[in-house]
Amino acid sequence: MSFFPVEQAPARLNRSELAVPGSQPQMFEKASRSNADVIFLDLEDAVAPDEKEQARKNIIQALNDIDWGDKTMSIRINGLDTHYMYRDVVDIVEQAGERLDLIMIPKVGTAADVYAIDMLVTQIEDARGYKRRIGFEHIIETALGMQNVHEIAAASRRNESLHFGVADYAASTRARTTIIGGVNPDYAVLTDPALDGGRDVHWGDMWHYAIARMVVAARANGLRPIDGPFGDFTDKDGYRAAAGRAAVLGCEGKWAIHPGQIELANEVMSPSDSEVTKAKRILEAMAEAEAAGKGAVSLDGRLIDYASIRQAEVLVDKSRQISA
Ligand code: GLV
Ligand code: MG
Repeated sequence: MSFFPVEQAPARLNRSELAVPGSQPQMFEKASRSNADVIFLDLEDAVAPDEKEQARKNIIQALNDIDWGDKTMSIRINGLDTHYMYRDVVDIVEQAGERLDLIMIPKVGTAADVYAIDMLVTQIEDARGYKRRIGFEHIIETALGMQNVHEIAAASRRNESLHFGVADYAASTRARTTIIGGVNPDYAVLTDPALDGGRDVHWGDMWHYAIARMVVAARANGLRPIDGPFGDFTDKDGYRAAAGRAAVLGCEGKWAIHPGQIELANEVMSPSDSEVTKAKRILEAMAEAEAAGKGAVSLDGRLIDYASIRQAEVLVDKSRQISA
């Protein structure tokens, strides 16, 4: 390992993150009883300009009055380029800050954006004498944010997670998309007819670079990488596939923009029983190898070594966190 210490963000389950518009208070109770690990009450893009003020009031009341159980509660504030943002932070943190775990910052572009909100939140927390510190989640969803993702990830000790906001990212980069978080048949290659006689179309994942880059920035700073929305809530297989490829790249959660996506996210983002059993066997085999003075052994015909221990521990720790 490097001599440079990477401090880990507080360990929270973040397999599913349910988006609930702040302007739809009739949805709040149901959300509180859902199986979502994290809920963000939205003030930004799901709320029309005329409804922003009322949404803020709804959220303050809901944070104070509804029993959210052990859910991690977040609010998505408006962007720093709007005049709504300062009131989102001031009113909600002042009036409901004790039940707020996280603030989600959309369209974050630079480390200075994070600094500005950190300053504001710190002043309010100090003035109110809050004992707990509110954490930050950042949506990486603009070309600027993606360019500066490493500085953003390191910009505050409040930082907990980075989220890939595919819809705004597509708009910002002018990528051609058909549905939010979906794929595009034009992002494909044709196989070589000289090699296989025919031509097959191989679709690619047009979001690979963006997600992989965000994952690196998050993990290098001890943060959780989370994949954002998948717009077609009727397409369960499409959602599972999108969540699965994000999980393979290192993401530990995905948004649910509809309650029907919560269980899918929890399922894909939880290690399966067989994965956990295999991980435990790796740990046992390596403990035996170490006792016999060996650093690497074979298990089921495959080499395992000290790196395998670290991989197995990630899975076992996650399954403990889920059953806690
Ligand atoms: C989320 O905010 C997105 O733009 O995808
Ligand atoms: Mg967005």
